[in-house]
Amino acid sequence: MVWRKRALILAGLIVVSFVLIQIIPMGAFFDSLKRDENPPIEFTIQWDSTETEALLRTACYDCHSNETVWPWYSYVAPVSWLVVYDVNKGRAHLNFSQDNFIDGSLVDFLNDIEWHTENNMPPRKYLLLHPEANLTDEQRSQLVAGVRSTITALVEDKQLSEYQAENSGTGEMN
Ligand code: HEC
Repeated sequence: MVWRKRALILAGLIVVSFVLIQIIPMGAFFDSLKRDENPPIEFTIQWDSTETEALLRTACYDCHSNETVWPWYSYVAPVSWLVVYDVNKGRAHLNFSQDNFIDGSLVDFLNDIEWHTENNMPPRKYLLLHPEANLTDEQRSQLVAGVRSTITALVEDKQLSEYQAENSGTGEMN
């Protein structure tokens, strides 16, 4: 019955490792795994319609805002590592809860939103557990159009940080 003993030892090791990874504070060792629950919201966008806002909240806000909804499994390692890593990276690239999310010209920003929405956002792995975020082509176009009109208006009204208002004005659009 050697195999039985081995199986028991293996199962024991798996359980012990599972418990250990829950206890070890990975965020203390890796900045990219440091969970910043939901930092204060510094800027709230009034989207052009409730539909635009709903689409963004469903498909993008978990990683691109400070209003992340953290499900229970996002607290269980090793899944938590993947979630925290994505949220940190997503926020670092684009955070709608801050007024400085345009890094460059408005035109480039809007084209980036369009390209990513049509090609690789939300990331595939996110869709596994958020099927509702798998937008139809029509919803994607609606989301892009809503972002275009809302953000263009914000820049025109100089609502985004001063640098952006001066550097990415609609004058560059052609
Ligand atoms: C599961 C988290 C997650 C979700 C949900 C998500 N993104 Fe992202 N997004 C990321 C990460 C991480 C990056 C950084 C680039 C990369 O690793 O692909 C990124 C990058 C981007 C970029 C590029 C920004 C830059 O400056 O490089 C855009 C634009 C973007 N996302 C738009 C969206 C839009 C629009 C949605 C919703 C339709 C969305 N994302 C949903 C995680 C996410």
